[in-house]
Amino acid sequence: MVEQFSVSKDLLAKAQQILTENSRADSYTVPSGRLYPYQWNWDSGFIALGWACFDYQRALREVESLFIGQWKNGMVPHIVFHEFEEHYAPGPLDWQVPDHVKDQQVCTSGITQPPIIGSVLYRIYTHKNRKTQAQNDDVQFMALYKKTKAYHDWFMSKRTIGPDHDLCLSLHPWESGMDNSPSWDDLLKNVPDEDMSGFRRKDVNDDNLAERPHDHDYRAYMSLVYHYRRVGYDQPDLMPQAHFRVYDLVLNSLLLRSARDMKKLSALLSSDLCAEDEAYWDAQIDKISSGLQKLWSESDGAFLNGDAKTKALLEPVTNASFLPLYAGAASKEQAQALAQKYKEWREVCGFSVATIDPLSDKFEATRYWRGPIWMNTNWLIAEGFKDYGYDDIAAEIRADSAELIERFGYCEYFTPDGVRGCGADQFSWSAALALYWLAE
Ligand code: GLC
Repeated sequence: MVEQFSVSKDLLAKAQQILTENSRADSYTVPSGRLYPYQWNWDSGFIALGWACFDYQRALREVESLFIGQWKNGMVPHIVFHEFEEHYAPGPLDWQVPDHVKDQQVCTSGITQPPIIGSVLYRIYTHKNRKTQAQNDDVQFMALYKKTKAYHDWFMSKRTIGPDHDLCLSLHPWESGMDNSPSWDDLLKNVPDEDMSGFRRKDVNDDNLAERPHDHDYRAYMSLVYHYRRVGYDQPDLMPQAHFRVYDLVLNSLLLRSARDMKKLSALLSSDLCAEDEAYWDAQIDKISSGLQKLWSESDGAFLNGDAKTKALLEPVTNASFLPLYAGAASKEQAQALAQKYKEWREVCGFSVATIDPLSDKFEATRYWRGPIWMNTNWLIAEGFKDYGYDDIAAEIRADSAELIERFGYCEYFTPDGVRGCGADQFSWSAALALYWLAE
């Protein structure tokens, strides 16, 4: 049995302080004041869970401000640029999203990010702080439920392809939230270069070169952006023309879990709504569940991202390979194989869960999504193992996460040997998840 290990009271107070300092206009939270000065889609989901623990109303405002950026077609963009910030690129002038795609005149990016927001809505609705404060907020939740359903509609109608329409496509590495995952290496080599003369990176300096994505990755990220901008982000022929089209495990796993959670939320919000929407959610749950099975690699004993063009599965095994557990899409046998893999990785690293297979030749302990441990994926993986009855693994991931934060504070990511905290400090989702997951 793994000992229960929680973050100290002082550190929890520090976590509240970080969210408060990273809060803007008392309605949204930047991931990091220095490195990411806007509102990010999946960051805000994790961050809202943290707010729910000490300022319940603020959690709802976090979600509401994300939806200010929602497009008329239902898409929730990966960044909402509420206020212009000169220290970040690419900004609104690089994306140039036309105003007519949105209801409100706020600038946004032109792609999405892993859809955690429906699950977050359900978790906030059922959070103990809501019940104790006898909130009268069903109308607010109903509005957010409808917006989230429109987001699901967009995924299933605009981002799936026939004949099965069962897996959603990601068109950019930023859509997976795992920007420079080695899964994308070969695909990015085939992205034609666009004119980059107007673009300058603002995320690198002499101190963090070994921790950020390489220049060649950034060239491909921006070439995709400029190509999509030319074609039109919401044009029907964008998907067939896109040079990067993948079946992404993060995106599909989070969408599936969100469909399950939204179904439960509809039942809590109203019995009429529940009767109307049940079949809608069930159909989505069936489709994505069977779609994810196509991404199982028997020889790896793990799920892998897939190239939608060639249908090839993309090596190596990454931390996203565990997320179908969180989605409830894995069989018992698959869960067992994943538990085995988890144990092998931890044996090699000392701490859980590295971003990629630590024995892969692509592994880099400090470079972003190519090796380090991240708090948000740790939480999702622990939830998945818990759901499948692997309580010891879930407790071990939690204990490792708490210890890393005790050692290094609220860093953006941590080396899997437990020796360094890297990236931005005072990072919002690390602080938020400590409050939500690592207290007591
Ligand atoms: C980076 C991460 C992404 C995150 C964003 C803001 O782009 O890869 O997952 O959402 O920063 O924190």
